[in-house]
Amino acid sequence: MSTPDDLHLPDFALQGLGTRPFGVYVHVPFCATRCGYCDFNTYTAGELGSGAAPEDWLEGLRKELDLAAQRLGRPPAADTVFVGGGTPSLLGADGLAAVLDAVRQSFGLAADAEVTTESNPESTSPELFAGIRDAGYTRVSLGMQSAAPHVLRVLDRTHTPGRPVAAAAEARAAGFDHVNLDLIYGTPGERTEDLQASLDAVLEAGVDHVSAYALIVEDGTALARRVRKGEIPMPDDDVLAADYELLDAMLEKAGLRWYEVSNWAASEQARCRHNLGYWLGGDWWGAGPGAHSHVGGVRWWNVKHPARYTATLADAALPVGGQESLTAEDRQLERVMLELRLADGLPLDALDDDGAREARRAAADGLLSTRDLDGGRAVLTDRGRLLADAVVRRLVS
Ligand SMILES: C[S@@+](CC[C@H](N)C(=O)[O-])C[C@H]1O[C@@H](n2cnc3c(N)ncnc32)[C@H](O)[C@@H]1O
Ligand code: SF4
Repeated sequence: MSTPDDLHLPDFALQGLGTRPFGVYVHVPFCATRCGYCDFNTYTAGELGSGAAPEDWLEGLRKELDLAAQRLGRPPAADTVFVGGGTPSLLGADGLAAVLDAVRQSFGLAADAEVTTESNPESTSPELFAGIRDAGYTRVSLGMQSAAPHVLRVLDRTHTPGRPVAAAAEARAAGFDHVNLDLIYGTPGERTEDLQASLDAVLEAGVDHVSAYALIVEDGTALARRVRKGEIPMPDDDVLAADYELLDAMLEKAGLRWYEVSNWAASEQARCRHNLGYWLGGDWWGAGPGAHSHVGGVRWWNVKHPARYTATLADAALPVGGQESLTAEDRQLERVMLELRLADGLPLDALDDDGAREARRAAADGLLSTRDLDGGRAVLTDRGRLLADAVVRRLVS
């Protein structure tokens, strides 16, 4: 087994640390079962092998966070913490409290820190929500995907009927003001009325945030194998566009406004600050197997397998799998890609002359708002949101 690389953080990357938002992401690589569409770095108990049980992972995580704080010198307190996965709720309230304690002890938490955990509704309960609220979590994000049983079957997703909505209500009753539900749209076989029913259920749950993603058929997944065998068709682009328009209209009507192409929030405070940190070029340390980090234009990622992760940390080394320094060109491309997807848009001075010229053409084509362009920002129109990736390509090529 080769030794993972050590991390080289040049002075220029560390300059300004603490003047930009600083987040901590913790990757929990465990799931009860693998959903057929998902290619995240996550493992069921049977897939893990030895040295990678949740206790070993937690031990490794504590070591990584301590080493991380040392490597950053005087690390800033975390403005945001996001515990994602995988299925963090499988750790239970005590496990999630231990994760947050490890962040507190290494980096410390800013006074008004946003602390989110992802959860699968099937591994949540009123006791879990009460426990993590006490521990200091402020936000819960639940994977719902759909309310239609036949859609959930295509996604290989088992939910007790109504469980995601009930879980959202339990989280709110436990004192969480900020609750998100994740939806997937465009699943083959999903009819307009199925999506409508899912949205009705989301709105009934009274959450203040919704993330809705077009189904992506990821290579190497069970879903991709079924598509290849012809058992299931690929998601249809026209259906995806019509679905997006429907869900945007229903969410906006209910007072949830888009602030990123795939994210809607009921208020400014309901926006996910942690994700805004990613989109606006902030710094974050990503801890856990396969987690990605970014500090001052240097990006690195951890080794993926939990056993290798814990073994490396047992030798007191950071489990870095690779790193890269972004060139000025990379940073500009990323900035356009990420900020153009925001409702606040991108300042025009972030574009070169060709890009600015192209932005005016995109506005003439109805893809960028003319009024915002006159005010110095490139902001997608409703039609532009449907073609966001194509608009980005026009502005940077
Ligand atoms: C880590 S999961 C959320 C928490 C928990 N693991 C669960 O699934 O309930 C993150 C979200 O990514 C989205 N996702 C994962 N794979 C996807 C794919 N292939 N296409 C679209 N969305 C996907 C799903 O909406 C999922 O809820
Ligand atoms: S969608 Fe969530 S529960 Fe399903 S395999 Fe992926 S991370 Fe696990």
